[in-house]
Amino acid sequence: MLRLILLGPPGAGKGTQAARICQKYSIPHISTGDIFRKHIKEGTEFGKKAKEYMNKGQLVPDDLVVEIAEARLIEEDCIHGFLLDGYPRTVVQAEKLDKFLSERNVSIDKVLDIKVDKEELMTRLIGRRVCRCCGATYHVINMPPEKEGICDVCTGELYQRSDDTAATVENRIEVYNALTVPLIEYYDKVGKVAHIDGSRKLDTVSSDIDAAIGDRE
Ligand code: AP5
Ligand code: MG
Repeated sequence: MLRLILLGPPGAGKGTQAARICQKYSIPHISTGDIFRKHIKEGTEFGKKAKEYMNKGQLVPDDLVVEIAEARLIEEDCIHGFLLDGYPRTVVQAEKLDKFLSERNVSIDKVLDIKVDKEELMTRLIGRRVCRCCGATYHVINMPPEKEGICDVCTGELYQRSDDTAATVENRIEVYNALTVPLIEYYDKVGKVAHIDGSRKLDTVSSDIDAAIGDRE
């Protein structure tokens, strides 16, 4: 039983670390960003609305996000735990999540707060490439695929996310600082936060995360 939240600015490495954590602890990876991109790809009504906000680097409105997140959390694979990546992202979302969990007599075990400075975030996001088929994440310099433009895992095509432009990334970081950073204090008050220095090598960050998870009450 393990219920985790990953906090961290755009490019902190949430998705990259989530893949490792979820494989190791056999829990589902719930990324609201990934769910929204799937809606956009499939052209759903929600996807059309979400796209407008995402391409500007703004948050999708809370009521829409909460509905989508809760619909995912009641799926059967979440009964024994989950990792939330990019949800909650506002105090309103965190309060809704608390209510949702307490109605089910469960709670979050740990909140992993991954910190990385702005300059590094910009470099990481501008160089990020993602597989269109399986979602695996690469970086043109830090983590290049064996064959340029091709996914090592499934040979799918690699692409650049439409919100990974310099101007949109700046905006996403500002939005994170204004609306999501308050959640660190929100969860700190209940003693659930582990602060992780995400600027180091992937394996070092993963080791710190493992230690923090092992340290939960
Ligand atoms: P979302 O998809 O969640 O994007 P994000 O939070 O901006 O974060 P990213 O996915 O860009 O970064 P990441 O931390 O996952 O980094 P990654 O591991 O890929 O959300 C997108 C949008 O959807 C939002 O802007 C918003 O509009 C909307 N949205 C989503 N959730 C919402 C919510 N709850 N409420 C409202 N709106 C919502 O790594 C980045 C790069 O760095 C990669 O290239 C990777 O290879 C590299 N890297 C990773 N770790 C390291 C390392 N240790 N060293 C060197 N390079 C590294
Ligand atoms: Mg991500």
